[in-house]
Amino acid sequence: MTAIDKKALIEERVNMGLLGQWYPVAKSVEVKGTRPHGVKALGQKLVLWRDGSGKIRCIEDFCPHRGAPLSYGEVHEGNIGCRYHGVIVNGDGVVVRVPAMPECALEGRKALKSFEVTESNDAAFVYFPSAERPEAPELVMPKELTSDAWAGFLCTSLWETNYRYALDNLADPMHGCYLHSESFTLAYGSKQDLMKLDKTENGFRIERVGQTGENFDWTEFVVHAGDMFCFLDIPYPPAAGPGGFMRIVGFVLPVDATTCKVFFWRMREVSGLARDSWRFLYRARLEANHWHVLEQDRVMLEGMPDDARKREMLYQHDLGVSRIRQMLTRAAKSQIEVELAQAEAAE
Ligand code: FES
Ligand SMILES: [Fe+2]
Repeated sequence: MTAIDKKALIEERVNMGLLGQWYPVAKSVEVKGTRPHGVKALGQKLVLWRDGSGKIRCIEDFCPHRGAPLSYGEVHEGNIGCRYHGVIVNGDGVVVRVPAMPECALEGRKALKSFEVTESNDAAFVYFPSAERPEAPELVMPKELTSDAWAGFLCTSLWETNYRYALDNLADPMHGCYLHSESFTLAYGSKQDLMKLDKTENGFRIERVGQTGENFDWTEFVVHAGDMFCFLDIPYPPAAGPGGFMRIVGFVLPVDATTCKVFFWRMREVSGLARDSWRFLYRARLEANHWHVLEQDRVMLEGMPDDARKREMLYQHDLGVSRIRQMLTRAAKSQIEVELAQAEAAE
């Protein structure tokens, strides 16, 4: 293999999404025990449903008989039945029954890839194994999503852009006071600054040098063996009720080469009565403002050409953008090297 081929493989892996990672692929409420739910993630079509115990299962969305989407089928006693000719497959991807053909040899055959699923904070996370990390590591959820001191909502949105632009956007606090300048929460602060980047225990933090707490002034990326969450604060005026700033906990799912889905948990540090009051205010008023801001991001990113990064001219503020790209490339390189070494050993 030439160096050029290897470089292309690394670029392709970064573009389609790293393996060896957990990704949120659906909201919990979308996955039911009666009808299967089809999703696309990392270019693969998957189907999710709840088995008899309520646990979410995930396998390829492909019927082993002739390839019909299993997501068009139905859930039967915790398994999934294909709509086309009724073949029944379980959550391990094994054909359980071929109702149209007694004693069919397909029965008992493991025919499809199955994926490990963890349900947490209103989302279904699926693990995509890599050669480097075939077994799923623990999905490390951040404190904002595990502690009772925080309360919030998960919102998701499908963006017609490669996921890398969504990550770049998150690693770029300086756009807050421009792109979102006419919003409820992001109209404040200075429009000129320098950025600084600090390495943290599990990732990095990019922040404005000249101000903090005025606008979207910093982002932190926290990386564990199988997940990468990012965090940022949106300052809220007193009219937005108790709890101070709103913290966004974000995760971006690569859907395919030109689409991604953002998962944003909108959290506030509130408990007791303040928690109810924040939830009420959010639903009644703040949510619409927040959607408005999120739409500004979506429209901007969808307007950028897919190959924008090939002719861009970065400046000092893009330290975070460069860092996130470098992290993805390094991780992809290590995955590809393990795959190539394994392929060579197998020859
Ligand atoms: S294609 Fe699914 S049962 Fe025939
Ligand atoms: Fe934004």
